This record gives sequence, structure tokens and C-alpha cells, in this order.
Amino acid sequence: MQNIQAIILAAGKSTRFNTGKSKLVEKICGQEMILYPTKLLEQLHIPAIIVVGFQKEAVIDTIQKNHQQTVFEFVTQETQNGTGHAVQITQKLWSATHILIINGDVPLVTPHIIQELYETHQRTHAAISFVTAHCPDTSLGYGRVVEQNGKKQIIEAKDFSLDPEEYCCINAGIYLVRRDFLETFIHTLDTHNAKKELYLTDLVARASEQGLTVNTITAAFDTIRGINNFKELWAAEQVKRAEIISNWMHNGVRFALAQTTHVDLDVSIGSNTTIGTGVQLYAGTRIGKDCIIGDYAIIARSSINDKVTVHPFTVISDSQVETGAQVGPFAHIRNHSTIGSNSVIGNFVETKKTSIGNHTKAKHLSYLGDAKIGDNVNIGAGTITCNHNGVKKNTTIIHDGAYIGTNNSLVAPVIIGKDAYTAAGSTITEHVPAEALAIGRSRQVNKEGYAKKLRARAQQENQQHQPFIAAIKTAEETT
Ligand code: UD1
Ligand code: MG
Repeated sequence: MQNIQAIILAAGKSTRFNTGKSKLVEKICGQEMILYPTKLLEQLHIPAIIVVGFQKEAVIDTIQKNHQQTVFEFVTQETQNGTGHAVQITQKLWSATHILIINGDVPLVTPHIIQELYETHQRTHAAISFVTAHCPDTSLGYGRVVEQNGKKQIIEAKDFSLDPEEYCCINAGIYLVRRDFLETFIHTLDTHNAKKELYLTDLVARASEQGLTVNTITAAFDTIRGINNFKELWAAEQVKRAEIISNWMHNGVRFALAQTTHVDLDVSIGSNTTIGTGVQLYAGTRIGKDCIIGDYAIIARSSINDKVTVHPFTVISDSQVETGAQVGPFAHIRNHSTIGSNSVIGNFVETKKTSIGNHTKAKHLSYLGDAKIGDNVNIGAGTITCNHNGVKKNTTIIHDGAYIGTNNSLVAPVIIGKDAYTAAGSTITEHVPAEALAIGRSRQVNKEGYAKKLRARAQQENQQHQPFIAAIKTAEETT
């Protein structure tokens, strides 16, 4: 495509969203709405002007963070006087022969649609060409294309008084306009309409009245859905999500119940991996080959290597799980944790900023925070790294081959040496040398025959025998 430049309209107030935020930074499958048209134009090598206004800082920031290579020109529309006004204020930047105008809230447009629009526009020497779709749903607020006495016009939903069922061809909000036509007619727009705004769409009637060529191409409605409220966002996201999931299906990924699964745009999944019911895979997630991601697992910004099993209800964020490891069910792996290859992290285990080596096991009920754990380590059930001393976080280091008994409290900073053991129920406050056994608990005392004595006393006091109360008294008496 040659001699073409684009204008993206992104200044609107997003009133129908009722959030007080610009809809253009709402995400669809993990990507902000405004990035759909900016990435489309980048892919097509079409330079673009972006009209911003309402919450422009958030919109510009989103674009700049995600486009390090491409430079866009921003024009500020101080008051939002309509789509026609938004285009008017960019005039001094027009330089190409053809101006492509895209509404910022039409995210699912494909390169193919733009290509076809361009070819038709060129071939017919049209003054204006635009994209339409067949939309039988008359409740949606699109502008409708009306052709009467050989003249075309777009009538906006609020100004429409004809039979909407008869006029089911809607305007998609994507136009290709000759610059000379735009220069002549952009200032003829007026606000004689229900919204008292300058409608860009009135250019169609202007061209038609002048006997100039007006062309349309038809696209599938799903590809040009406009987004003006959360319901429309939800509908568009369904379309995008289905497209993403079917793409992974074609790449050999099995989805147990695809309609319950969410996959963001920036996710990759290797072949022969199975994705369970209700799984949510958020942006920045990479899943390898031959994995099983169990039901209702949630994974964000994480890397899961090949042959990993993530059991149901596991949450993994900002972390890495290496080849052959098993995680969950009900595990929580977060904040830059690494689980080494063939390691097993079981139910109700939380890791935070913790690296775990290869072939290490922490199978039940543990909190492992700010820890560096080596290979072939066994972490007993109920082990807690006491990483916070009330002032700052401290590190626990557990060297290769160590065996941490059940129900241990490892009070950081602390180091457990290579192949060392800690006894069950220990509170470890000091470093444990390699090969040592650390016992950090009080010794058990058995008072022979004491139970009988207690029962006799209870009887004497005419109380009902209650072993629980007896236990409390025992504690008092023995201290
Ligand atoms: C617009 C079209 C309608 C079309 C529909 C397709 C007009 C008058 N109507 O309606 O024919 O069927 O899109 O989705 O164009 N914007 C600005 N400045 C403004 C007003 C809007 O930059 O002053 C931006 C918005 O941020 C948005 C885009 O223009 O990205 C479209 O505006 P919106 O209010 O969503 O128009 P629709 O009512 O959807
Ligand atoms: Mg809209």
C-alpha cells in the first residue's frame, strides 16, 4: 500500500463504559484496546496520527510502552466535539494522497480488510471508501448506510427514524478518503444532529451529493465489532478468545472444555499439551510441549517448560517451572520463584521469591519464601521459612540433599548444610553444618501413671470426666 497515512480516533470520553476511565486502555485478551489498531498499522507499515484527548496520558503511555520501534504523531483534541472534529484538527499533518481513518474502538479488524479497502478505493478512484457489515441486531447503536435515489448516506443511531430491520448494513468506522476530498469537505460538517457533534460520517453524504464515487466493502460483523460498553467488550473478547484457542488447537493443543478456558494474546502453548477445564492463561505465559495443565489452574507471566504437570487449582505468577516438574493441586508459586526439573511441589505449598533445585520435594502444606533450595532436598510437611523478622526479609539457604523434617520453622537468615537432617517439629535458629542432625525442640517428658492420679482428683471434685479440661490443668501444673 502506497501513499497512505492513517488517523486513529482515540480521544473520546468513553461515557457508555461508566468507569471514568478511557475504554481504549481496557484490555481485550490481555492487550489494551488501542494497541489493536496501532499494531495493525505497524504491521502494514502505514504511518499514523493518533487523536487523543480524554485521559490522553494513559493512552499515550500505553502506546509508547508497547511500540519502541514505531513513532506515532499525537494530536490533542481538547474538547470532544465528535469524530468529524477529531479528524479536522489533524489537517496540518496530512501529507499522503489517501487518508485511512480508523475508530480506536474497533479492535478486531484484520490486515486483509484494510488491503481490500485500499484495492477497491484505488481501482474505482473513489473519493471515500468505507467498511460496512450486515448487522441484524437493531438494538446496537451503529450508523446505518441508507441509499435513496442513488445517493448514499450514513444515518447515526440517534438520528435514525427509518425501519432498522430494512437497513441492516452498518458503518464499521473504517474509512479511506482522498486527501483532496477531505481538504475540501472536512470543514463543511455541521452539528445539526441529535448529538450536536461534528459527525465524520456526514462526509459520505457530501461525496454522494457531489456525484463523487463512494465505495463500500463488506466485512464479517465479528471482525468490525465496535466497543462502546462492557457488554460489547465482552462480546468482542469472546470472538478474540475463540480465535486464539482455535489457533492453538490447530497447533496440537487439546482443550478439555474450551468454552470455559481463557487464553490471552501473548501466550504460547507447545504441542501435545492438555489444557483443563476453566484454566486461565494470562499474558506473558509460555507453556512447553507435553504438559498437563489441570482444571482451574491460573498462570500469569510465567514460563512452564516441557512435560510439566500443573495439578488443578494451582496459581502460578511471574515464575518458572522446569522440565518434568509437578506442581499442585492448590499450590501457589509466585514472585520470581523457580521450580527445578523433576521437582514436586504438592498441595497447599506456597513459594515466594524462592528457587528450588532439581528432584526436590515439598509435597504438603509449606511456606517457602526468600529461600534458595538445592537439588534432591526433601521438605517435610508443614515447613515454614520464617523470612520476616518484623523489620526485613531474610534468606533461607538449604543445600543439596538436605532433609527437613516435618513441621519445621526455619528462622532466617539460616543455612542448612549439604545432606544435613533436621528433626521433626524443630525450630531452627542456627546454621546446620553439612551432614549434621539438628534437633530444635524441647524434650518430651512422660510422667508415668499421672493420668490415673488426674482421674481420681476429678472424681473427687465431682466433675464429669473431660479429657480436654484435664489436659489444660496438666499444663498448668507442670509449669
Ligand atoms: C461511530 C460512527 C458510527 C459507526 C460506529 C462504528 C460517527 C459519528 N459514528 O459511532 O457510524 O457505526 O462508530 O463503531 O463517527 N472519538 C474522538 N473524538 C470525539 C469523539 C469520538 O476521538 O470527539 C473517538 C472515540 O474515542 C472512538 C471513536 O472516535 O474511538 C468512535 O467514537 P464513538 O463515540 O465510539 O462513536 P460511535 O458512537 O461508536
Ligand atoms: Mg464506538
